[in-house]
Amino acid sequence: MQDIKLSIENCLGFVSEETIKGFEAQVKSSAATLEAGTGLGNDFLGWLHLPSSITPEFLDDIQETANYLRENCEVVVVAGIGGSYLGAKAVIDSLSNSFEWLQPNKPVMVYAGNNIGEDYLAELCEFLKGKKFGIINISKSGTTTETALAFRLLKTQLEEQAGKEAAQKLIVAVTDKAKGALRTLATQEGYKTYVIPDNVGGRFSVLTPVGLLPIAVAGLDVRQLVAGAQRMEQVCGVDTPFMENPAAVYAATRNALYQNGKKIEILVNYQPKLHFFAEWWKQLYGESEGKDGKGIFNAAVDFTTDLHSMGQWIQEGERTIFETVISINTPNKTLVIPSDEANLDGLNFLAGKRVDEVNKMAELGTMLAHVDGGVPNMKIEVPELNAYYIGQLIYFFEKACGISGYLLEVNPFNQPGVEAYKKNMFALLEKPGYEKETEAIKARLK
Ligand code: PA5
Repeated sequence: MQDIKLSIENCLGFVSEETIKGFEAQVKSSAATLEAGTGLGNDFLGWLHLPSSITPEFLDDIQETANYLRENCEVVVVAGIGGSYLGAKAVIDSLSNSFEWLQPNKPVMVYAGNNIGEDYLAELCEFLKGKKFGIINISKSGTTTETALAFRLLKTQLEEQAGKEAAQKLIVAVTDKAKGALRTLATQEGYKTYVIPDNVGGRFSVLTPVGLLPIAVAGLDVRQLVAGAQRMEQVCGVDTPFMENPAAVYAATRNALYQNGKKIEILVNYQPKLHFFAEWWKQLYGESEGKDGKGIFNAAVDFTTDLHSMGQWIQEGERTIFETVISINTPNKTLVIPSDEANLDGLNFLAGKRVDEVNKMAELGTMLAHVDGGVPNMKIEVPELNAYYIGQLIYFFEKACGISGYLLEVNPFNQPGVEAYKKNMFALLEKPGYEKETEAIKARLK
């Protein structure tokens, strides 16, 4: 097995190697602070050595629950939002066949509780009508409105369709060990439950049952995923020399670029399956670093698709951006471009080549064009798209995020800003307990 590999050569025309190496002391001290648990947000460091703490028995239990849902459901609905949804969706999409989502003997994975779109929920309820379905309801707080609302609708429908007793076995709750409405409900209804550890925040929770259970239900190899994360836990450990530690170098380089006016980081992929991996990454970094009036803005593009839209902005817009490219070295499938006698499309110059050769030349050509256009590029080479390397990527990004947040001198493990909309929404909806806020917001909107 190989490891994912970070290269920063295409940043060195923008920030010097000396500047990046100049971060070594700060990076080491940030990593040491994480290890010692003495920094900001130190009650949320459970992710740091999570991979190496996962036991085979725990994974067996996850697999057993997953098998029950796989055997008894045509559809499994994963209800959750933010950190209680994106990790599972990211891994499942990255590793699943793009078109085999509707096949016998495998439940279709669908998602709810991540929006309040009435059409979405109504259409989901219609889709589930008459189908054998199960629900994995995920909420650490157990009180998140989007998730609770979707779960109320889904639970009602499941009980009507399958009967209360069967429904109880088809619902799994993943939540806090003691607190919150979901814990109370699960205890009362006798659902199978999994605990989200107190010291693991939502966006760092993909390697807890939050991510592992849905990923196992989708038929993916959670053991390999965890093995990949365990490997990166070693590679990115405090004893690894600075320039050999990809999490350290990534954290240093993005902060060096940020201090040099590059305020926006765009995560780039050349495989459409990675779209939701980028959504997970956006949450991880955006929620961890965007605070105290600071932080790189996280954006993502799917290339070559978005070269035909955002490509213009990236090539010639304001020069405040840099890119981090996830490059998959070897595709899992082989597809050779056929020759055509008439050659009316003029594509015979590609005949006999694999589709991936064209993709790789698009990648190389884009990278050169963007560097020429003033956009530094980092590249993360991934040997192939499988559970082991996705596990590596997950831990690499998490570790780098913790270090990077400390370099920025913010608390990377809280998210006070997400409460503002909730307070207003509850006031507007006249939620009990929000009377004063309701009065204030009504006066403001008069
Ligand atoms: O990262 C986070 O903490 C958030 O994205 C939460 O995961 C999200 O708000 C969902 O919260 P909960 O799991 O409490 O329903």
